[in-house]
Amino acid sequence: MNILINSVVPDFTAQTTQGLISFHQWMGQSWTVFFSHPKAFTPVCTTELMALTRLRQEWEKRNTQLIGLSVDSVELDQQWLDDISAHLGQAVPYPVIADIDHRISTVYSMLPHTEYAPAIGQKTQRDYSNTRAVFIIDPDKRLRLSMSYPPEVGRDFGEILRVLDALQLADGQQVETPANWRPGEKVLVPSTVSTPQAEQQFGTVESELAYLRWIKAKPLDSTR
Ligand code: BEZ
Repeated sequence: MNILINSVVPDFTAQTTQGLISFHQWMGQSWTVFFSHPKAFTPVCTTELMALTRLRQEWEKRNTQLIGLSVDSVELDQQWLDDISAHLGQAVPYPVIADIDHRISTVYSMLPHTEYAPAIGQKTQRDYSNTRAVFIIDPDKRLRLSMSYPPEVGRDFGEILRVLDALQLADGQQVETPANWRPGEKVLVPSTVSTPQAEQQFGTVESELAYLRWIKAKPLDSTR
């Protein structure tokens, strides 16, 4: 099933490293980053879980909860998270779903094409049982971004934070963000908004082309 941008994401109940959850209830009024990874105790996945843990304050600033998914058991995931926590000297704060029967991976299209499993070292097809999918879900439970990375490439969580900032700015101020935008930089007037309307809301509007108009948005907050 392909989950379309702006649709309400499928709900489910699942066992996680923090107990049984009902997904929509668990999300509450937060933004959510839902991510899958191939396998516990593997190198790329370990760097990803460490990176997500080190960014804890960044997720909190953005009212964003994280939840992972693997096809390993709760017990195995818990051993792995404990190991990472001990290594970092910092607890891994987010739950990991144990999707041992691929029930949720299938609904969220996290599984790769099964006939292709490139042989890297000693890894087998079992090692490729989930792609590195990422879903950003808003407080209305609507999908706002989805990405899928190959197993051998670790994700850039700076990009996920950047998209969260862009979405929160777009929702809050009805603006759009340009290519390679970073917080604090100029943003775009949507084509549905007239120049006088934009001037009323933001002050000066710079018209580079009739259909390419720039404004300075109000800052998200000084810490981003
Ligand atoms: C890894 O996390 O290192 C990994 C997992 C599955 C396939 C390839 C790499």
